[in-house]
Amino acid sequence: MCGIVGYVGPRQATPILMEGLRRMEYRGYDSAGIAVLDGHHLDIRKAAGKLGILVDEIAGCPPHGTTGIGHTRWATHGGPTTINAHPHTDQSGRIALIHNGIIENAPAIKQALLDRGHVFKSETDTEVLAHLVGAFYEGNLEEAVASALRDVDGAYGICVVSTDEPDVLIVARNGSPIILGIGDGENLVASDQSALVEHTRSVVYLDNGEMAILKADGYRVRTLTSRHVDKPVNQIEWDLATIERGGFEHFMLKEIFEQPESVENTMRGHLLEETGNVRVYGLKLSDEQIKGIKRIIITACGTSWHSGLIGKYMIEEMARIPTEVEYASEFRYRNPIVDAHTLVIAISQSGETADTLAALGEAKQRGARTLGLVNVVGSTIAREVDGGLYLRCGPEVGVASTKAFTSQVMALAMVTLRLARLRAMSLLDGQRYIQAMLKLPSQIRSILDRAPEVELLAERFANATNALYLGRGVNFPVALEGALKLKEISYIHAEGYPAAEMKHGPIALIDENMPVVVVAPRDAVHAKIVSNIQEVRARGGKVIAIVNAGDEEISRLAEATFIVPVTLDLLTPVLTIIPLQLFSYYVAVRRGCNVDQPRNLAKSVTVE
Ligand code: F6R
Repeated sequence: MCGIVGYVGPRQATPILMEGLRRMEYRGYDSAGIAVLDGHHLDIRKAAGKLGILVDEIAGCPPHGTTGIGHTRWATHGGPTTINAHPHTDQSGRIALIHNGIIENAPAIKQALLDRGHVFKSETDTEVLAHLVGAFYEGNLEEAVASALRDVDGAYGICVVSTDEPDVLIVARNGSPIILGIGDGENLVASDQSALVEHTRSVVYLDNGEMAILKADGYRVRTLTSRHVDKPVNQIEWDLATIERGGFEHFMLKEIFEQPESVENTMRGHLLEETGNVRVYGLKLSDEQIKGIKRIIITACGTSWHSGLIGKYMIEEMARIPTEVEYASEFRYRNPIVDAHTLVIAISQSGETADTLAALGEAKQRGARTLGLVNVVGSTIAREVDGGLYLRCGPEVGVASTKAFTSQVMALAMVTLRLARLRAMSLLDGQRYIQAMLKLPSQIRSILDRAPEVELLAERFANATNALYLGRGVNFPVALEGALKLKEISYIHAEGYPAAEMKHGPIALIDENMPVVVVAPRDAVHAKIVSNIQEVRARGGKVIAIVNAGDEEISRLAEATFIVPVTLDLLTPVLTIIPLQLFSYYVAVRRGCNVDQPRNLAKSVTVE
């Protein structure tokens, strides 16, 4: 979602800001803008729509100056117009501010400022904050920002400049990520590492309630109440090549094809074949603590919630610990039953999803032990949890999550093994799981080798307007995820159901125009799903089935089949999801959709 970048140093700021915004495009946005200071002159350029429009607008006469801020906005308060785009200025026009997040008490602050004669141009909460900073300004920008933020409720990551102090960037964070990029004779700031990595690998992660003051030759960090904070400098591990598309037409396709390696990377160093166990130091749970867990709650959003559902099947089956899976957005506002014997697992690719972060906060406050299964190193969720496991699947740039999903399932399988081996699971069963897990990367590769088969299928069904996805047991969440992938990038209405639920309502939708994708590997519920397929066929529905080799029964009933290799039942989602990811990708391409940046979606949802 929104992206922040800022620069102070000896170089021209405009190209650095524009490149930073380009690198953050994947997060999703609907307008963009920059503000550059040339001495005491502030030059602001903004445009609604994609970054290319702003590029064209500044082409002939780019803003000149060596201090600047840039922003990509994903509309929350007010539509995606040029006027609502950031940066916004204060009443005097001398202070410019960019902001990620939501200022919850903006209406009350705005009214107070209107009463004092302030005039607002936009509908945004950000402009209100800029005016508030201006209202506190008495010759010291740092103190004006601190005073304004002490009056603010809500989430923010902000970056502020002023014509009165043209060599300074002021940033602050509360709930929305801000990372300082520490350079040599220059400093940067961004909400996302991808905007920094070209310039520096040395970064400082701001924590909530902290501000930083950056100049070309140094920086310092303080709290809103002016206490100095010493912060460690971390090193970014990802390089630019890993963030680029590497020859694939879209990031999503690249990331689907990366799954043999990403799944392997998630497992690397953790599996202990001999003892049928896993070693995950990051969990920070002693054997005694693991034995004391009475209940598990998994909380997440979207695709990560789907992997959580798979985790429930795994944990209950293998470790026999009662497990619930809750949408983070629901968990945070309920009165959940959580105590010191409850383990709460937060799953998040970005590590910045606002609802998941809030759910985690709620769980911690109630005394639960928390674990995070997170991809982005140093992200807020990764830093907030008591322990956890990095997914290590590399940067996921395509808005539709693919490789993070399979890595999440692998991470859940590893956590489950650790829990299960301390409970009822035998050495032999543990070894069986590990051997099956080790085979998965090559099995994924064998599916990807047959991607052209899926492409042909996609061509046949690309004109559908609705689709149903069915699965049973651990493949029910795969049906949900397959449907989500199709709807989010191709805009075809798709629903996922447990296959037997179909006859309780959705069956009414089935006719000869309705593709029904059935996830049906030969597992414990295979016979049941065959009956469900017969019910679809009897109503003229066109079945596309994901099956194991030699499944004559389903092949006879289905319009089309795609074969996946055999693995243990609970690991099948890692294989069955791959053709569904490919299917949604090829359908979307066929329909001319913007696969990597689907409409209305953001990569990292940092607002409620
Ligand atoms: C779907 C998708 C979203 C995310 C969700 C949670 O393809 O990407 O549903 O899974 O917004 O994001 P993270 O995992 O970053 O917390």
